[in-house]
Amino acid sequence: MAQDSSGLTGIEAVQFSTTDLAQASRFLDDWGLVDAGSDETCLRRVTRDGAEVEVRHCDDPALAPGVEEGGSLRAVTWGLSDGDQLAALAARLGDDAETGSDGLLSIKDPTGFTHRFRVRQRGEAVADLQLVNGPGRANRVDARSTIYTAPAPIGIGHVVLFIEDLEATLDFFTRRLGFVVSDSYPGHAAFLRCRTPGPHHDAFVLRRPGKPGVNHVAFTVGNIHEVFGSGLSMSAKGWQTDIGPGRHPISSAYFWYFRSPMGGSWEFYADDDYCTADWVPCEFERKPELFAEWAIAGGIDGNTRRQARSA
Ligand SMILES: [Fe+2]
Repeated sequence: MAQDSSGLTGIEAVQFSTTDLAQASRFLDDWGLVDAGSDETCLRRVTRDGAEVEVRHCDDPALAPGVEEGGSLRAVTWGLSDGDQLAALAARLGDDAETGSDGLLSIKDPTGFTHRFRVRQRGEAVADLQLVNGPGRANRVDARSTIYTAPAPIGIGHVVLFIEDLEATLDFFTRRLGFVVSDSYPGHAAFLRCRTPGPHHDAFVLRRPGKPGVNHVAFTVGNIHEVFGSGLSMSAKGWQTDIGPGRHPISSAYFWYFRSPMGGSWEFYADDDYCTADWVPCEFERKPELFAEWAIAGGIDGNTRRQARSA
C-alpha cells in the first residue's frame, strides 16, 4: 500500500459512550456490524474490514474522558503502517503522549478527544464492482444491477468533530500527526486526510466554541445503491433519519445520516473523492448548497419506499 510520510493508514477503532446500552446494541446490529466479543458492560462490533466499534455506558470508568455529557465519541484509534512509523510518531509527540492501560500510544487533541495509535490490524475489504450503463457504454451486460437489502459497512471512513479552537486543532492534526488539508472553510472548518494518496477526508473538524462534541462518524459502503439499501433497512427498523439520502458537492460522496444512540449521527457514504499529491485544495465560503447538492430532509420510509412525510 502506498504511504506518505505520516505513515497513518486510517481509522482502526472508535470508542463511544451511550446512556442506553440496550438501544445502542440494537442500533449496532441493525447497522450491520458483527459482534466481536461483547459482554454486559461493553459492546464490541466490527465492520467487514475489521474496524472496531466499542460502546460503554457513559458512567463506565473504562471510557476515555468525554468532552460532552451522555452519548458521544470518546476516542479514535488510528493505524500506522508499521512499528517504525509508530515509533517515529511517538518520538514526534514526545511527552505530550502517554501509553494507556491498553498499551496504546495515546494523546488528547486540543478539544479533549482522545486519539490512540497502533500498527494497523484492520484487513482489506473491497467494494463490489459497480458497472454503470450509458448510451454507447454497455458496461453491465446480461446482468441486473444489485439491490442491497441490509447494511454491511466496509470500514469506518471518517469522524467529524465539533472543536474549540480551529488553529490549535489544525496544528495538532497537521504538524503533529501528519494530516493534510484536502479542503477548508477558512476560519470555520477543515477536511483532513491522513494519507496521500487516500480518500478525501478521515476527519472533518468544525469550530463550535463552548459546545464541543461529536457531529458524526461515517461508515463506508460500496456504491450509491448500497447507501440507499442500507438507509432503507435502517429506516424500516424504525431508526430516525437525520438527513439523507443526499450528495455532498465537497468530497462528491452520496450520504445518508441517522440519529445515533451514541450521540450525534452515523453516516453511510460512498463514492468520495480520492486524492493524490496532485489534488488541489479549495477554500469555500459556508453555504447550504455546499453541504448538500441535494438531500431529503426526513429520509425515505423503509416500508412505503416513499419520501417520509411528517405527521
Ligand atoms: Fe461525513
